[in-house]
Amino acid sequence: CGIVGYIGNETAKDILIKGLHKLEYRGYDSAGIALVHENGTDVFKEKGRIAQLEETIPDNTKGTTGIGHTRWATHGAPSTENAHPHQSTSRRFTLVHNGVIENYRQLQREYLQEVNLQSETDTEVIVQLVQLFADKGMSTEEAFRHTLSLLHGSYAIALVDNNDRDTIYVGKNKSPLLAGMGAQANVVASDAMAMLHITKEFVEIMDQEIVIVKKNQVQIKTLDGDKVERASFTTDIDESDTEKGTYNHFMLKEIDEQPFVIRNIIQKYQNSDGNIKLDKDIRQAINDADRLYIIAAGTSYHAGLVGKELMEKVAEKPVEVHIASEFLYNEPILSKKPLFIFISQSGETADCRGVLVNVKKQGYKSLTITNVPGSTLAREADFTLHTYAGPEIAVASTKAYTAQMAVLSILAMDSAKAQGIDTDFDAMQELGLAANAMESLCDQKETMEQIAKDYMSGTRNCFFIGRALDYHVVQEGALKLKEISYIQAEGFAGGELKHGTIALIEKGTPVIAVITQEHINLNIRGNVQEVEARGANACIVSTDRTKEEGDHIVMPDIHERMTPIVSVVPLQLIAYYAALHRGCDVDKPRNLAKSVTVE
Ligand code: G6P
Repeated sequence: CGIVGYIGNETAKDILIKGLHKLEYRGYDSAGIALVHENGTDVFKEKGRIAQLEETIPDNTKGTTGIGHTRWATHGAPSTENAHPHQSTSRRFTLVHNGVIENYRQLQREYLQEVNLQSETDTEVIVQLVQLFADKGMSTEEAFRHTLSLLHGSYAIALVDNNDRDTIYVGKNKSPLLAGMGAQANVVASDAMAMLHITKEFVEIMDQEIVIVKKNQVQIKTLDGDKVERASFTTDIDESDTEKGTYNHFMLKEIDEQPFVIRNIIQKYQNSDGNIKLDKDIRQAINDADRLYIIAAGTSYHAGLVGKELMEKVAEKPVEVHIASEFLYNEPILSKKPLFIFISQSGETADCRGVLVNVKKQGYKSLTITNVPGSTLAREADFTLHTYAGPEIAVASTKAYTAQMAVLSILAMDSAKAQGIDTDFDAMQELGLAANAMESLCDQKETMEQIAKDYMSGTRNCFFIGRALDYHVVQEGALKLKEISYIQAEGFAGGELKHGTIALIEKGTPVIAVITQEHINLNIRGNVQEVEARGANACIVSTDRTKEEGDHIVMPDIHERMTPIVSVVPLQLIAYYAALHRGCDVDKPRNLAKSVTVE
């Protein structure tokens, strides 16, 4: 979910709606806004997209103070009742919330037996508690702080009080939230991107802090009411980076941006003398570690799998890669000197953060590789590396993934050098070649579109196979396809298919094979024959080195360890066109959110 708030001289409605559009990547099953004006608080909320909400709000809606929310359902189905904002029974208080309150049923039993709740959400409990304590004589600020002190879980909250049009009360724990300072206006938002049309100056809010936001004042306090002073920062995100430009979809724009992103990474990580530019403490931490533990979710986890290969093969460092949500409650036996590497595009994934909190408690060092340098995981880890991919808006991750692998390849080479390992792997040079190869694949959109049509139209399922490094790429290729086209897709280790899954192969079942590694070329081609013999319709992605006559996509040769950065591009494009031709909402697939800030 995402929240926004505005207080100033302008009508809040359009500003909030624009902000919510920018936050739609965080959830889009329902949305709402509340506007406070001299006659009361108007609440508009609607199941579905923000565009649907917009249609229900009259043009002449008043109010220069307001809050808004776009939801990804956790408690309670997507519906207008469960959409935010939520109001207390008296309608005095109105609130939006991102996060999960773990003890809401307990709080409800303890404090709100008498209250007739309107929704099934944990959020309504918060606003009813504020009302309860205000009715007992507390000021709004006291009631808000007291309520927050009772909550267990994660939250970014914005609250407005009908009796005081000039204030927005904001609270944060675990969920991301920033306050922004504009001219005669202040704002709050889950992501700076949502309020770039008002300001570029923001201040971070820490866990267990509240902020009292007025038109010309932003006051941070602890839950005990002590004032906190903190300097603001100016974000360098350009508003135009968050627009689609001439593209119909962010996803296609972001796929096309990949060569540029990779070249940008080369620049950012290289000194003028050509050596790798890396904080010496990070180099030291990697050197000191006897084992690296990569923790990530979704696409970032797939980048981690490739990162392991790079680190182990190039830098001879043992690496384990773990799904964050699994590691969180099922920690394996750790080595003596572990270093934790969190890979997260958003830097906000709650499962990763849970692990970070735990490993910090155990005294271990941590490094976050992220696309959002000011994010929670970036702030809380000992070290951060930026992936410089620019804002990624489409829910299906593309350029952030290739950027993560690029940074991991640089780390691998740096670590090899630091240990004096003799390697022929020059990450910077190879990344340059990879960027060129990506570009040539991006220029072959018609081929990819044709493949998507030939293989994907009307199919229920699709299998991806690969071996060694290619296996990790096909896992990502399958994830891309299923996320946005809803075709059931799985990525398998080529040799494993015959141990069960081959039973699903029927006449015409599409199987996409990625073949970039010379040493397994014959083996994987054997696997392709096995599925073809059972009627599968195979499509082969190979390289100049591994190609055979009849292969469908042949990518330029680059270093074998670097192929994932390039071979994923056709898979991204095939997924894109498959989804497009099925009439799917490419940028905002059903049931998904880009940034998952709940465990
Ligand atoms: C969500 C997104 C995925 C993403 C994953 C991890 O599930 O839909 O695209 O890979 O979160 O996100 P992160 O920001 O931690 O990389």
